[in-house]
Amino acid sequence: MIEIKSYNKYLHYRKGQLEIEKIRLVNLVKKYGSPLFCYSVNQLKDNYYELKKSFKKIKPLICYAVKANFNPKVLQIISDLGLGADVVSMGELKCSLKSGIDNDKIVFSGVGKTDEEIKFALKKNIKQINVESEEELKEIEIQSKNLKKKPNITLRLNPNVDAKTLDKISTGRLEDKFGIDQKKVIKIFQRYKDNEFLNVNGLSIHIGSQICELEPFNNAFKKLRNLIIFLREKKIFIKTIDLGGGIGIVYNKNKDKLFNISEYANIVEKNFAELDLEIILEPGRSLVGSSGILISKVIRTKKGNKKEFLIIDAGMNNLIRPSLYNASHKILPLKFSKLKKKYEVVGPICETSDIFSKNQVLSELRKDDYLIICSVGAYGSSMSSNYNLREPAKEILVDGLKIV
Ligand code: LLP
Repeated sequence: MIEIKSYNKYLHYRKGQLEIEKIRLVNLVKKYGSPLFCYSVNQLKDNYYELKKSFKKIKPLICYAVKANFNPKVLQIISDLGLGADVVSMGELKCSLKSGIDNDKIVFSGVGKTDEEIKFALKKNIKQINVESEEELKEIEIQSKNLKKKPNITLRLNPNVDAKTLDKISTGRLEDKFGIDQKKVIKIFQRYKDNEFLNVNGLSIHIGSQICELEPFNNAFKKLRNLIIFLREKKIFIKTIDLGGGIGIVYNKNKDKLFNISEYANIVEKNFAELDLEIILEPGRSLVGSSGILISKVIRTKKGNKKEFLIIDAGMNNLIRPSLYNASHKILPLKFSKLKKKYEVVGPICETSDIFSKNQVLSELRKDDYLIICSVGAYGSSMSSNYNLREPAKEILVDGLKIV
């Protein structure tokens, strides 16, 4: 069994009651109701410090992937820590700027930026635009000319590497919609190297998310490194590389497989440290994922024909990962008890796929008891909807004894 601390260092039972940081969870739901997203500020900060101190030879610019969690208070912490942002829409760009993140630390990614979004990004003089096709590049050129700008552009390489993660969150294979294949990347660099309105001087990759093995990263990094060296021989000099996100975290069953952050940093440095480049990372999940829990109340138990259902007041509209990806999240009761029972933990939504866990062995729970779902700080609230016309879950941050 994986111990609770692997999910979140600030989560523990005291006298049989679950606490986060220094606050009893039952007191939070009494005050705020449920379902309730709760983020541990110190876990978030620790995740960042751990990543930062793993690098010994280089100092990458860390651009937090805003899509993972765009709660304004979370963004405020990211901004106060001095991080940059990786955004994929005008909405994310506006929120990042509003939280005080410097425009010259913001990179704009995404396969479908609209004309309006491109114009807005150019006007805000952001650090760079990560481009996903030659078609997009041409559109940016026209707009740059009109606005008299000359933005930094990185081309997103599709390295044709299988990230060995969930199929639906793999992005670096040739059949995926993302990035540009290597041959085309070389041609575009040759065509655009002296462009009047664009500084096409960077390369980016992002091969997928929740990656638990180092090998796919290493394979992609090697391809990128070889390409940079090849381009240098052709007198095309890359200034910046953006290595995307993708670092996996502990969910339910994958602890043994997960690498250490310092091993990740090590392969980044091994491949790129001596190439004298600016290096950008775009972590999302690995910064915020473990910081979040979702507290939910048992509406009732229901004895089915073949199993017992635990019907809770959080649904797939609050956390869609289990329904969408078959993702597994650890579930813990607020009150510890030795009496165990097997449940299928389900939400109230009118969809068969509204299941958080099949065959979940938990302390015996009754109507109005509470439980938590772990590791929901990333892609929890940010992917939520109001399906079934349900109110959004409240979100709070906890810092020691304080509720932020
Ligand atoms: N950069 C780019 C270009 C991305 O597309 C993503 C995530 C990231 C960075 C951040 O990746 P991370 O470090 O968080 O793995 N909804 C899915 C995850 C989708 C990720 C999409 N792109 C999930 O819940 O697992």
